Amino acid sequence: MTDTHIETAIQQVDAALASKRLPVVRTFFDEATFTATHVVHDPETMRAAVIDSVLDFDQPSGRTSHASADAVIDYVRAEGLTVDWLLETHAHADHLSDAPYIQKVLGGTLVIGSEIRTVQGVFAKIFNEPASFAQDGSQFDRLIEDGERFTLGGIDAIALHVPGHTPACMAYVIGDAVFVGDTLFMPDYGTARADFPGGDAGTLFRSIRRLMKLPDPTRVFLCHDYKAPNRDQFVWETTIGAEKTGNVHVHEGVNEDEFVSMREARDATLGMPRLILPSLQVNIRAGHMPEPEDNGVSYLKLPLNLL
Ligand SMILES: [Fe+2]
Repeated sequence: MTDTHIETAIQQVDAALASKRLPVVRTFFDEATFTATHVVHDPETMRAAVIDSVLDFDQPSGRTSHASADAVIDYVRAEGLTVDWLLETHAHADHLSDAPYIQKVLGGTLVIGSEIRTVQGVFAKIFNEPASFAQDGSQFDRLIEDGERFTLGGIDAIALHVPGHTPACMAYVIGDAVFVGDTLFMPDYGTARADFPGGDAGTLFRSIRRLMKLPDPTRVFLCHDYKAPNRDQFVWETTIGAEKTGNVHVHEGVNEDEFVSMREARDATLGMPRLILPSLQVNIRAGHMPEPEDNGVSYLKLPLNLL
């Protein structure tokens, strides 16, 4: 079966590289959650997208703050950018999204993959969400499908559905750059876990192989980095070519069975991410807190002995 959407993405990257009109990417790295927030813009029109923002959250006190988002906002203002898009690659399990705050200040359309509805259904059960919690993705402005195209100023972009880490994961190909979320990490670190509810290692493998069809020079921007053995600096940018030749988990030559055995064995040793319970409750609401109770305070739940 021909995969017309990846073919379109390949043509888009080739055209961007030939035109030399390449998006500019500035990354803000949150060391508390190892998350990379990317601000990407078209240097001709100065239209921008903010990808995977972070709400600072102090779990012991339950206090949130916006230092990370404010750094992004200051940069956008200083560069004179207009934010058209707030893109989420998926419902993150390790940090809270601050997209609503950035949107209130800078505007933009908040986008996530349409399969977020599946994720909302799974976690609505886990958190016993009230009937008032919508499971139709309506907390977001736009639910995007595999192959849907959009523009960043004068630069073409296309969304690719890359499930496996979660069912709703999306990669966004903007000009010659692909923002891969948690499908791939740096070549020396490998890949993301696939054992969250709705995750699947074989599905992740096939999504990664699909991304690896992009041209070798495609710039790859990651959602996370954790350093790696023999590397003591955080890095969040690589290329498809480097991932194909060097990714320790999934370089060319590794087959699906080998990947799945490795991934499942490794996932079995991992504890839950520190912020999974707060993150999911907020991120399935597009970064909003649960409805306040009658005293005006919002609460997060801790399901006991469930995950
Ligand atoms: Fe994730």
